[in-house]
Amino acid sequence: MAILKIARLGHPVLRTPAEPIKNVQAPEIQRLIDDMLETMREYAGIGLAAPQVHRSLQLCMVEGAEGLRTDHGEGWPRSPLILINPHITAVTDRMEEDWEGCLSLPDLRGKVPRFTEIQVQAQDRQGKPRQFTAKDFLARVIQHEADHLDATVFVDRMKSLETLSFLAEFARYWAPEGTPVEEEE
Ligand code: NI
Repeated sequence: MAILKIARLGHPVLRTPAEPIKNVQAPEIQRLIDDMLETMREYAGIGLAAPQVHRSLQLCMVEGAEGLRTDHGEGWPRSPLILINPHITAVTDRMEEDWEGCLSLPDLRGKVPRFTEIQVQAQDRQGKPRQFTAKDFLARVIQHEADHLDATVFVDRMKSLETLSFLAEFARYWAPEGTPVEEEE
């Protein structure tokens, strides 16, 4: 396995829509999944999308964070959640604002509105089609990662840039008690 270099904002790969993956079982795709897992853990990320490691492919993952729960079926590893060619549909009009960070925008935080409940259709790392609903924090992280596959980053989703903050200022002026300051996606 290998730790991959993270693309930072300004790199065109983050602004390029990702290509669908045709052969999930291909050794290079399986190796990319393993390398991305190692990379996500090295940088203590809670999510990572392939464009963030300079690969324009529809692949993203979410690491188990505190409170990460979903109702997807048996045989689907809950954590890490590997999503290939994902399709996200909001199942509610309700949106909530909360803080997000991103490994591609290091040390920045901002408040982002997201749907509180979504339906996710994706293939797992074996290529098997899966479908589940996700709520709240998990739904937020999945929307953030799926956005990367559509060339969108979290600042694009902010209602205004008023809350956009560097990490130190976020920790000092904004972070509500108990907010994990370090989490990035
Ligand atoms: Ni991100």
